[in-house]
Amino acid sequence: MKNYKRTLVTAALPYANGPVHIGHLAGVYVPADIYVRYLRMRGREVLFVCGSDEHGVPITIKARQQGCSPQDIVDKYNNIISESFKGFGINFDVYGRTSSKIHEETASEFFKKLYDEGKFVTKTSEQYFDPEANTFLADRYIVGTCPKCGNPDAYGDQCEKCGSTLSPEELINPRSKLSGAQPIKKETTHWYLPLQDYEQWLREWILEGHKEWRSNVYGQVKSWLDGGLQPRAVTRDLDWGVPVPVEGAEGKVLYVWFDAPIGYISNTKQLLPNDWEKWWKSEDTKLVHFIGKDNIVFHCIVFPSMLKAYGDGFILPDNVPSNEFLNLEGDKISTSRGWAVWANEYLEDFPGKQDVLRYVLTANAPETKDNDFSWKDFQTRNNSELVAIFGNFVNRAVVLTHKYFDGKVPALGELQDIDKGVLAEIPALRESLEKNLEGYRFREALKDAMGIARVGNKYISDTEPWKVAKTDMARTGTILNVCLQICADLAIAFEPFTPFAARKLRDMIGSPLEWDLLGRTDILPEGHQIGEAQLLFDKIDDEAIQRQLDRLAAIRAQKEAEAAAAAAAEAAAHVEPQKPEITFDQFEAMDIRTATVLEAERVPKTDKLLKLTIDTGIDKRVIVSGIAQFYTPEQMVGKQICILANLAPRTIKGIESKGMILMARQGDGKMRILAPEEVLINGAQIG
Ligand code: 2FM
Ligand code: ZN
Repeated sequence: MKNYKRTLVTAALPYANGPVHIGHLAGVYVPADIYVRYLRMRGREVLFVCGSDEHGVPITIKARQQGCSPQDIVDKYNNIISESFKGFGINFDVYGRTSSKIHEETASEFFKKLYDEGKFVTKTSEQYFDPEANTFLADRYIVGTCPKCGNPDAYGDQCEKCGSTLSPEELINPRSKLSGAQPIKKETTHWYLPLQDYEQWLREWILEGHKEWRSNVYGQVKSWLDGGLQPRAVTRDLDWGVPVPVEGAEGKVLYVWFDAPIGYISNTKQLLPNDWEKWWKSEDTKLVHFIGKDNIVFHCIVFPSMLKAYGDGFILPDNVPSNEFLNLEGDKISTSRGWAVWANEYLEDFPGKQDVLRYVLTANAPETKDNDFSWKDFQTRNNSELVAIFGNFVNRAVVLTHKYFDGKVPALGELQDIDKGVLAEIPALRESLEKNLEGYRFREALKDAMGIARVGNKYISDTEPWKVAKTDMARTGTILNVCLQICADLAIAFEPFTPFAARKLRDMIGSPLEWDLLGRTDILPEGHQIGEAQLLFDKIDDEAIQRQLDRLAAIRAQKEAEAAAAAAAEAAAHVEPQKPEITFDQFEAMDIRTATVLEAERVPKTDKLLKLTIDTGIDKRVIVSGIAQFYTPEQMVGKQICILANLAPRTIKGIESKGMILMARQGDGKMRILAPEEVLINGAQIG
C-alpha cells in the first residue's frame, strides 16, 4: 500500500433541488464523515470537500413548477442541505456551490484547455426543438404517450408509470412541456469527450491496478469497459449552467456531469486559493471519493478521463467507496412520492438524537447490497443497543464511582483473570476497528466499537461491583478502574460514529481524544475526578415511532389508491381482439329487434340479475339479464332496448328467459344497454 502524506476526501455534491434524505446520509455522507473523523483523530492531514450541485435540468423544472428562478431553488436547498449536514455533525472543511463565480471560472478554464488542445470531438445531430419557446428541449421537457403502457404524460427519458427508460423519439404525439407545441427536429452541434480513447488506460488503471476496490464499484466499471465506451456529450442546449466558453456556443452550457466533479476542485480553490494544488496535484495526496452507486460511472470513468485529458499533474482517486441503495420500510426511496425520511425533518422530529440515526444507518449500511431502513429496527437498535449496552454500561460505571469513590478514579489493584481477559480484548478490537475503518468497512468497524461496549457491559454485570463493595472496597476499586478505562476507550472508539455522545462522554469523565490511547489501561489516572453521570442515550417510545409509521402509511395508502385507479383505467381501456370471421348467412340468422321494458324486478337472492318483462312487438315475454349492477329496476322500466329475439330459451334461477338484451361491455366489465338513436316501434328489425 502506498504511503501518502495527506488525504483528500470528497463527498458527492448533492443536487440542490430538494433536501437530503436517509439514503443520501447512509450512502455517502455518514460514511465519509466517519472516515474523516477517524483520520483527524489519528492526526492525519485531511481535507473534507463537499458542496451543492446547482446545475442540471431537474433544477430548472422545479423552478418552473414553483414559478421562481433556478437561482431561488438552489439558494433555498443549498441552505437546507448544508444546515442538515451541520445538524448531523458532518463538518466539511468547505461546502461550496457550483453556481459560484470561482466554480464558473474553474469549469470554464477546464473546458477551454481541453477544447484548445483538441481533446473533444464535435457532433451534429438532430434534437427536439420547441418552435414556440424557441429553445432546444432536454428529454425531460418533452412529454408524450408512452409506447409501452399508453401513459399520456410520459417523459422523454422515462415513463414514470411503467418505469420504462425511453428516448424522446419513442414517445407518441410528443409535446413540449414549455409551450405545449409539437417539437420539431433541429440540428445542433455539441462537444463530446471521446471516452473510447481512454478505455485501455482505464482498464490498466482500475481493472489491473485497483482490484481492491469494492466489488460493486469494480464490477460496474468492468461492465462499462467491457461494453465499449462511446463519446460522451459534455455540453447541452440549456440556459442554466456554466456557459460553454467558446465562440459559436451561444445558448449552450456545460453538461451538469461535466461541471459537477470539477466542483470538488473549485471548492478546494475557494477554501485554499494559494494552496489548493497540493491537494490535487501531489502524488503524496490520497484522493477518496465517497459516492452513491448511481454516480460510479461518472467518478470512475468520466471524471478520471477528464483529468487524464487535462493532465497537468491532477491525481486520480485511490479509492471510490460507493454504497448500494437504502430502501425504506421495504420500498425504494422516492423523493417525488415523498417516500423518504428527510434529514431536516428528522432533526426536528428527534432533536438531540442525531447519533441514533448515524448509528442505525451505519449498522445497517448498504455497503455490499441494498438494505432496508425500518422504524422498528431504528427503535430496537436505540433501545437495545445504544441505551441498554453502551449507555447503561457507562452509566453504571460513573454512578458507582461516585457512590463508592466520590467520583475519583480508584486505584487499579491486583488483576484477576477476568480483568486480564477483558483488558486483552480491547487492543484486539482496536486493531480490527482500524483495519475496517482504513478499508472502508464501516459496518464492521461499528461492530468492533460496539464490541468494546459489550465487553464492558458484560464485565460489569459479571463482576457485580455493587455486591463486591459490601466486602472488598479495593477489589471494587479495581473493577471500577477497569470500567472507567473502558469508558475512555468508548469515548475514543465512538468518536467517528456517534460524535455527540462520544464528546458528552469525554466531557463527563474528562477523558482525552487520542487514538493511540485506545486500549491502554491507564487512560484515566488514579485519583482523576470524573463528572456527574448523565445519560448518553434515552429510550425512544412507541408513540414517536408510530407517528413516523403513520406518515408513511398515509403515503402508501395514497400510492395504492393511485395504482388502483390506474389499473382500473387500464382495464377499462382494454379492447378484446376481433372474433373469427362469420358468414353473412350466420349474421342473418340472428333476429335482432327493438323492444320496450314493461316491468322490471330483481331476481331474489342474486346481485346481478334483473327479470324484465318486455314488449317485443311480436309478443310479451320475460328475459333475465345480468345488468343489476348497472341499472335499477326503476331505471329500466319504459326504456327501449335491443334484443336477440331468437336465442333458444334458458332457465335461469327457475325463470324461463327468452332472448338476450344487447349490451356494450368495456374492459373493466362496465356495461350499457344499446338503444336506437330515436324511439322506434317495438319489433323493428336490426341488421
Ligand atoms: O447524484 C447526485 O446527487 C449528483 N449531484 C452528484 C454529483 S457528484 C460530483 F460529481 F459532483
Ligand atoms: Zn409507460
